[in-house]
Amino acid sequence: MDTRTQRHFDHHAAQFDSMYHEGQPLQRTFNRTFRKAIYERFALTFEHAEPLAGKTVLDIGCGSGRYAVEFAKRGAARVVGVDYAPGMLALAREYAAANGAADRCQFVEGDFTTELLAERFDIVVAIGVFDYQDMPVEFLRKMVEHCRGRVIATFPGRSLVRMPLRKLRYWFGNCPVLFYREQEVRDISRLAGLCTLQIVPIHNSGTGYVLVGDV
Ligand SMILES: C[S@@+](CC[C@H](N)C(=O)[O-])C[C@H]1O[C@@H](n2cnc3c(N)ncnc32)[C@H](O)[C@@H]1O
Repeated sequence: MDTRTQRHFDHHAAQFDSMYHEGQPLQRTFNRTFRKAIYERFALTFEHAEPLAGKTVLDIGCGSGRYAVEFAKRGAARVVGVDYAPGMLALAREYAAANGAADRCQFVEGDFTTELLAERFDIVVAIGVFDYQDMPVEFLRKMVEHCRGRVIATFPGRSLVRMPLRKLRYWFGNCPVLFYREQEVRDISRLAGLCTLQIVPIHNSGTGYVLVGDV
């Protein structure tokens, strides 16, 4: 486990979750203006995950539970979120309870790369997680092994301006971060054994992709 990433997200859980806050008008305007890519990847994920009624979902690196709860709200029968940052999971459990989804959402503390899950799921997602994986093929292969339907994952692209700025920001936070070319995402998918493959650009991120694959 990369303890730097785990520590980073544990310490910054509330700050991370504030990206989704829509309550205060000022914060809503700020988020909708400067965090368009976060909202776009959210919309793209659900566009490609539907129909969700009765499905089971594994949400890897579930963070503060925004996706897990949305899966449940859209009809998923059961959602399992895995994350190694306890601060994130505390927010996820709170958010699920506040949205009446606690009975369908289970949050498990652990590192997905070593976690033993006996189950296979209809949908397996990892949103904003490949940014921090130094063994992306093995990570995606494990996602495929736990899936009997669709895999959805996001990958940050290599851009001229955003990439160095983000690298610098994470360097100060002592958290390594990775970036991918579209061809690298294709190669990783092929090596991990994904069949149908669609790579959808996230326009608002400069570069960045949503990978949609069927097992
Ligand atoms: C950028 S956040 C994304 C959270 C959520 N998916 C979202 O988009 O709102 C990345 C999350 O992945 C978790 N994470 C990264 N690598 C992980 C691993 N190997 N096992 C479990 N959690 C991991 C981090 O702790 C963090 O909460």
